[in-house]
Amino acid sequence: MDKLLIEGGRRLIGEVEVSGSKNSALPIMAATILAEGVHRLGNVPELKDVETFSALLSSLGCGVESVGDGTLTVDSTEIGEPVAPYELVKTMRASILVLGPLVARCGRARVSLPGGCAIGARPVNLHLKGLELMGAEVRIEHGYIDVRAEKLKGVHIYLDYPTVTGTENLMLAATLASGETLIENAALEPEVVELARALKKMGATIDGEGTDRIRIRGVEGLNPLEYTVMPDRIEAGTLMVASAMTRGNVLIKNCPHEYMDSVVTKLGEAGTEVEKEDGGIRVVGSYPIRSVDIKTYPYPGFPTDMQAQMMAMMCMSTGLSVITETVFENRFMHVAELKRMGADIMVDGRYAIVKGRERLSGAPVMATDLRASASLVLAGLVADGQTEVSRIYHLDRGYERLEEKLRCLGAEIKRVKE
Ligand code: UD1
Repeated sequence: MDKLLIEGGRRLIGEVEVSGSKNSALPIMAATILAEGVHRLGNVPELKDVETFSALLSSLGCGVESVGDGTLTVDSTEIGEPVAPYELVKTMRASILVLGPLVARCGRARVSLPGGCAIGARPVNLHLKGLELMGAEVRIEHGYIDVRAEKLKGVHIYLDYPTVTGTENLMLAATLASGETLIENAALEPEVVELARALKKMGATIDGEGTDRIRIRGVEGLNPLEYTVMPDRIEAGTLMVASAMTRGNVLIKNCPHEYMDSVVTKLGEAGTEVEKEDGGIRVVGSYPIRSVDIKTYPYPGFPTDMQAQMMAMMCMSTGLSVITETVFENRFMHVAELKRMGADIMVDGRYAIVKGRERLSGAPVMATDLRASASLVLAGLVADGQTEVSRIYHLDRGYERLEEKLRCLGAEIKRVKE
């Protein structure tokens, strides 16, 4: 297992490029199941989760090939047994995204039921409720979700919560259903909009993406897709916080700032300068960092995937910051580790109260989930002395070459084998 060694105290200066979005690449990869033929996806990030999803598509009978330069081809001319096994689903919950497209194309699917995960129970009941409304028979047996439907039918689905992958799964399924599907209280995330764009390019009829009412009129068949994946707004946000926390001056290129208002606003309130300029977004950090309160919400609210990183920044602020996590019930796993670095944080249910400190001190810490690992790396960049972040396979799931990018900006960070 690899770990990261970080020597804190370096200002980050220079230019960095944001990679393709993980949360956009995965549903678009799932969309390739819907149409026979060879699909070509560009700007796909090289990440563990993309590797796992590729393995899943291969196990379904697709030919998946990385042809260099972030381009992935998926040959989904033939689909074999529509089964997503436990071994793959347990390492990546987003595997559930194959459920809708498999049922739509094959009339049946068997996908391992994702278990709980570090950040909460994360059920998939809304995905299943939607499919049942569309006429599918859903059974849970031996840890697997078994779904059968001769032909899905268009219906009116109201989601109790605007679940992101739930909206995506149902949108994918509805593209080949008979008649019109209306998804109400749909997720508004930019990645949902991107998926709709990709599906439309394949010949789907969709409108209302980006609003809470998405309408999909089913079609007989779809065509192979050529698509370039959008840049990753969470990676971009993480790099912004890195610059802000280290009193850095970083030009973030290929930054999807149009989707980042909530993060940019909070950084501004904390005293960070964020300016648009030719070629990207410049982020200039300065001390003291002002404390700000943060409450996570579905898009366009502050993203839960940026909560841990902002908390790391608030550990260095001048006052008290109240951080409220409303999306996941257990997403404060990083608190115990940040405390090992001297942070002063109190957690009570969905609230974390962070009392800013002048310094953090380097310590051995353990990554617990994807974004928690990023917060520990950020804390390490400013802590006195050395921080050792272990279990960074979590980080590798969702960040492409993060330590290399930070090193190019002047951070003293290296990867070593444990
Ligand atoms: C997606 C993102 C993840 C992000 C999250 C919230 C991908 C691959 N992952 O995850 O990075 O943190 O959105 O922005 O895009 N829920 C139910 N029943 C369901 C589905 C969800 O109760 O059927 C609940 C969950 O437990 C959670 C909340 O809804 O409390 C939000 O989850 P959801 O939007 O589904 O997150 P994901 O799609 O899993």
